[in-house]
Amino acid sequence: MTAPAELALTGATGFIGAALLSRLTGAGWQVRALYRPRAGRVPPRLTGVQWLPGNLEDQGALDALVAGADAVIHCAGVVRGAWRSDFDRVNADGAGRLARAAAGLGRVPRFLLISSLAARMPQLSHYAASKWRGECAVKAASESMRWTVLRPPAVFGPGDRELLALFRCIANGVAPFPAGTPGRFSLLYVDDLATAVLRWLEADTGYGQTFELDDGRPGGYDWDTVATLAGRVLREGRPVRRVPIPVPLLYLAALANLAAARLLGYAPMLTPGKLREITHPDWLCDSHAFALATGWRPAFGLEPGLARAYGRADQRTA
Ligand SMILES: NC(=O)c1ccc[n+]([C@@H]2O[C@H](COP(=O)([O-])OP(=O)(O)OC[C@H]3O[C@@H](n4cnc5c(N)ncnc54)[C@H](OP(=O)(O)O)[C@@H]3O)[C@@H](O)[C@H]2O)c1
Repeated sequence: MTAPAELALTGATGFIGAALLSRLTGAGWQVRALYRPRAGRVPPRLTGVQWLPGNLEDQGALDALVAGADAVIHCAGVVRGAWRSDFDRVNADGAGRLARAAAGLGRVPRFLLISSLAARMPQLSHYAASKWRGECAVKAASESMRWTVLRPPAVFGPGDRELLALFRCIANGVAPFPAGTPGRFSLLYVDDLATAVLRWLEADTGYGQTFELDDGRPGGYDWDTVATLAGRVLREGRPVRRVPIPVPLLYLAALANLAAARLLGYAPMLTPGKLREITHPDWLCDSHAFALATGWRPAFGLEPGLARAYGRADQRTA
C-alpha cells in the first residue's frame, strides 16, 4: 500500500467523525479536518491532525481542505432538523459543493461519502431524501472522480446521541418501542464503521459503487432482541420491561415536537419523518459486497459493542 500524503475529513467533531479521526490517525494517516469554529471551541491537538476552520457553505474553506489531498472522507451531516432545507443545505448541497471542489483539482482525490441506509427510502423523510440527494450530487460531480458511497444503518458507540436514550432506558429496566412494528433492522458499531473506512483506503478499490454495511448478524435485530441483548450487558441480565407505545401517540408527540421546534428554533429528533423511518419494516442490509471488495469484517455485534461502549471493564472484549 502507498500511504496517501494527506486525507481531508469532514464531520470530525461529531460522533462518527471523531471515531474516524482517531482510527485514521492511529493508523498513521495525516488528516486535514474541517471544523466549525464557535465560542469556546478549541479543537484538540492531535498528532497527525491539522484542523481547518470553516463549514460546508464556505467554498474557500472547502477548496483549502481538499487541496493536495489524496482522499476525501465526507462524514459531516445533519441528522436532526425541522425543515427540508435544514437537511438539504448540508447533506445534499454541502456534499455536492465538497465533491465539486475535489473534482476540480488537477489531481483528483478519491472520494468517500458516508451516506446512510436511509437513502434507500428517500420518500420516508427529509433526512432520507437529503442523504439520497447528497449521493446523487457526489456522483454527478465528475466522471473522472473515483467515488464510493457507504450506507451504514443505525450506528452506536461512545458519543452517540441517537440510540443513547434507548440504551439508557434499558439500563433502567424499561424498553420503550413502537407498538405493532415487527420490523427488522441492522446495526453497526462505530469502531467497525471506522475500520471499514480504513479498509477502503487501504484496498484502493470499490469505486463507482454504493455499499451497505452491517454487523454481520443474520436477520439483524428487532426491538425485542435489542431489549434482551442490551439488557444482558447494561443490566447484567436483570429483567427489562417492554413498553410498547402506540404509534398514533408517537405520531402526536412527533407533530407537537416538530411544531415546538419550528417555533423555538431547535433541531428536533422525533418528527413525523423520523417516526416513518423508525416504523419502516425493513432496514436490514448486508455488507457482503463491501467485505468482498475490501476484506473488511465487522468485529462487534450489539452485545460486545455495548459492553465496549458502556459496559463494565470486565465485559469490554470483542
Ligand atoms: N449516527 C448514525 O446512526 C448514522 C447512521 C448512518 C449514517 N450517518 C451519517 O453519518 C454522518 C455523521 O453522523 P453523526 O451521527 O456522527 O452526526 P453528528 O454527531 O451530529 O456529527 C455531525 C458532524 O457534521 C458536522 N457538520 C454539520 N453541519 C455542518 C456544516 N454545515 N459544515 C461543516 N460541518 C458540519 C458537525 O459539526 P459540529 O460539531 O460543528 O456540529 C459534526 O462534526 C452523517 O452524515 C449521518 O448522516 C449517521
